[in-house]
Amino acid sequence: MPIMTWDRSLDIGVHDMNREHQDILDAMNAIYDAHQAGKRGAPINSMIAHLGAVTTRHFRDEEAFMARIGYADRENHKRIHGKLLRDFAAHQATAEAAGGSPSPEFFQFLRLWLSAHIKCIDLKYAEFSRKAAKAPVR
Ligand SMILES: [Fe+2]
Ligand SMILES: [Fe+2]
Repeated sequence: MPIMTWDRSLDIGVHDMNREHQDILDAMNAIYDAHQAGKRGAPINSMIAHLGAVTTRHFRDEEAFMARIGYADRENHKRIHGKLLRDFAAHQATAEAAGGSPSPEFFQFLRLWLSAHIKCIDLKYAEFSRKAAKAPVR
């Protein structure tokens, strides 16, 4: 049973970013499923590290995309990514210190983070990119 499943409310209409969001979701679900199946220790720690790597890469790609389309609020968006990565690192350290056993708060953080960030924050640059694509060229 996955922690979250993909649905249309997560679709921001930007193909490459949707695909990367799905990769993040898959990485989250892999940790959750392994934890539910009773796995602890190194395998969980390396799955959390993988989620961190996939997320870091996505944030970099997303920030490059926002720069490419000239999205004005990208510095603020970048700061939000920075804060998410710091919070993630804190949860990661706690899970490692607990012997590769993430807390319910960690999963709650992941679930909320992915859905709230995509639906409230990422959607804004996606809407901007659609409007920019429709604007007449001067
Ligand atoms: Fe973002
Ligand atoms: Fe994103």
